[in-house]
Amino acid sequence: MKIPEIFERKTVKNINAIYDVDEYKRLVHTYIEYGEWFTVAGLRRTGKTTLVRSIVAFMGSPSIYVNLWELSPYGLSIKTLINRLIEEINHVFSGKMRSVGRRIKEISLFGFKISFSSERPSEALTKLIERIIKNKKRLIIVLDEIQELGQDLGKLIKYLGAIHDLFAPNLVVILLGSVISLKNILKKVKGAPLRGRITREIILKPFDMETAIGFLKEGFNQCGITIQENTLIRIVEFLGGFPGWLSEYGRLYIETYTKTKKKPDPLTILNTVFNDAREAIYEEIAKLVYQRKKLLNYIKILKHIAINITTPPTEIAKMLKTTRVTAYKYLKYLHQRAILETKNGKYYIIDPLIRRAMTQPDAEDKILQYLKNI
Ligand SMILES: Nc1ncnc2c1ncn2[C@@H]1O[C@H](COP(=O)(O)OP(=O)(O)O)[C@@H](O)[C@H]1O
Ligand SMILES: [Mg+2]
Repeated sequence: MKIPEIFERKTVKNINAIYDVDEYKRLVHTYIEYGEWFTVAGLRRTGKTTLVRSIVAFMGSPSIYVNLWELSPYGLSIKTLINRLIEEINHVFSGKMRSVGRRIKEISLFGFKISFSSERPSEALTKLIERIIKNKKRLIIVLDEIQELGQDLGKLIKYLGAIHDLFAPNLVVILLGSVISLKNILKKVKGAPLRGRITREIILKPFDMETAIGFLKEGFNQCGITIQENTLIRIVEFLGGFPGWLSEYGRLYIETYTKTKKKPDPLTILNTVFNDAREAIYEEIAKLVYQRKKLLNYIKILKHIAINITTPPTEIAKMLKTTRVTAYKYLKYLHQRAILETKNGKYYIIDPLIRRAMTQPDAEDKILQYLKNI
């Protein structure tokens, strides 16, 4: 049995293999078409990267993609990012455009002299963008997981403000982040350099129960597999409406079916998906708290909330033997980074697999293990 594309683990998909988000597909297409810069926010595994990269690929415009998650946390700075962008332009365009190839050679000769200033965008990069736009008419730059810049995020925003005025609308920059909202973060940067330059934001949410069931049915139908309605409900209750987890489930189910030549037990597959997910989740949490002061407190909070399901800040303060204000600061960070959600003054973990992972007795040890290796 062939894995249907909807269940494949990749972030550039055929438009038809992207389930449900038709309205957002149209929006992304329109923004790019009109040279409008925009942000995409939302929890991990809600399909941000897939949505944007797939539409960009579909439109066939010249583009570069950089994922900051892969660059961090090894001292990610704006300089590292600019160098990475130049590398990527080299990789994508040098073979096709001689002027870019020549320019890259110059940069690598004198590269170590390039200094960074957000007021005057480093010419190393702007000259390259200029050449590409002159030749190809346009360029799309996708920057993924930009919250990873941490301290230097403000510098990036300033830098982009300057670049915007030089090249928009021929240059389109799309910013993605696994946070509740990137727009709010941009607003807080001193002077708000992107005010009026980025006005649109797409926020992706997990699927609701009905849509999530539709997602699974769509993929399984393509292989001629039917699964009982109550089993589908059980699966979605366990995994939540995250296309990332749901597609892992679908793929593993079909792979197991093909290997064993008989219908797998749906609950066994669920457990395998969870066990595979655990490691990724612990690593993500390690990265999330890595540069925070008193990082153990964050882990304690997540464990506490995971076990109690919902928790008010006063309870967190009591558990940590600290003030309500301090407890609130921790919670605010975890909320902004889209791990926690809040309702009626209480906090809870949105993703059921993260919640489950944090209830495991070895959760803390595993996270600390990752922190040691960073
Ligand atoms: N709407 C969708 N339809 C089909 N597959 C999807 C959809 N959204 C996400 N996926 C799949 O889920 C996984 C995670 O998606 P991704 O785009 O990486 O999420 P994010 O960038 O928000 O973390 C990918 O393997 C992707 O192929
Ligand atoms: Mg992503």
